[in-house]
Amino acid sequence: MKIGNQILENPLVLAPMAGVGDLPFRLMIKSMGAGLVCSEMVSANGIFRNNRRSLEMLCSHPDEKPVSFQIFGSEPTAMAHAAALVAKNGADIIDINMGCAVRKIVKNGAGVALMEQPEQAKRVMAAVRGATDRPVTVKIRSGFTPDGQRALLIARMAQDIGLNAVTVHPRTAGQGFSGRADWSVIARVASALSIPVIGNGDIVTPADAARMMESTGCDGAMIGRAAWGNPWIFCQSLDYLAGIAPKEPELAMRQKLMKDFASACATHYGAAHACRILRSRLTWFVKGLPEARRFRDSITRIESLDQVMGLVDEYFDCLA
Ligand SMILES: Cc1cc2nc3c(=O)[nH]c(=O)nc-3n(C[C@H](O)[C@H](O)[C@H](O)COP(=O)(O)O)c2cc1C
Repeated sequence: MKIGNQILENPLVLAPMAGVGDLPFRLMIKSMGAGLVCSEMVSANGIFRNNRRSLEMLCSHPDEKPVSFQIFGSEPTAMAHAAALVAKNGADIIDINMGCAVRKIVKNGAGVALMEQPEQAKRVMAAVRGATDRPVTVKIRSGFTPDGQRALLIARMAQDIGLNAVTVHPRTAGQGFSGRADWSVIARVASALSIPVIGNGDIVTPADAARMMESTGCDGAMIGRAAWGNPWIFCQSLDYLAGIAPKEPELAMRQKLMKDFASACATHYGAAHACRILRSRLTWFVKGLPEARRFRDSITRIESLDQVMGLVDEYFDCLA
């Protein structure tokens, strides 16, 4: 898949996920073969006002390239400023969030609220397009009704403005993450556009990504929640696409990945902050494994990186 001047090695994309898709997580997913990783959404207003936390979220590393940084906001000027700064900071692609349905975002006219205001959506997309020569993409939902008519309208608008790809998460604004993603909306957008369309929603097994691309005609498949404790979904899906039977990761691989991820978090955040994050994140990796509950209970008390490493080793020794 080609997004503007960016040629991706494969069509599998990590979804933008607030509170999840930070640099350590993106690097881990990249190491599993993702063709493109996306940052969690960053506030354009925060960037515009030099908010420290927003600027920290723009941290990137050459090993994750190509990387897409997602910005959200409703004001064309702030979005244009943010896009220019994000591009200067090393983003290979800039993504506009028009899918977030969280109340505090929607209340400010951003995220999926822009789909309700097509003229404002157009101004935002045009401003971002005009602010950078990097590829610009937009991530949308079905809209406010399940028929997906609004998705088609915004997607066509994006193409006319000169955006380079559209991602469709085919749930309505009101659905949040409930119900099922209606892949037929992805199919309709894909057949209407000549720029690449990335489908998203409910890919949980290696076969799902192939099934989505085949059944909808979309060019790429974006994976979100299924990657939380199972980053292998990317290499397994790539195997599946290549006609190779996907393999389950061995326990030793799982153990090493958890420790590497913990180290990467400590390097990125410092040990104390990393421990707070790892108390929940490491539990994702043992979901479904024997004695997972015991591990979950013990990891909630971690105070140091040494303790994390010790508990991970102890858990896997016990499993072995
Ligand atoms: C915790 C969480 C955070 C999310 N944050 C964002 C975000 O920052 N930007 C965005 O466009 N979508 C965000 N999403 C939506 C995902 O990108 C994706 O569209 C959704 O999870 C459906 O894909 P999946 O079924 O593969 O998880 C988020 C989803 C979750 C669960």
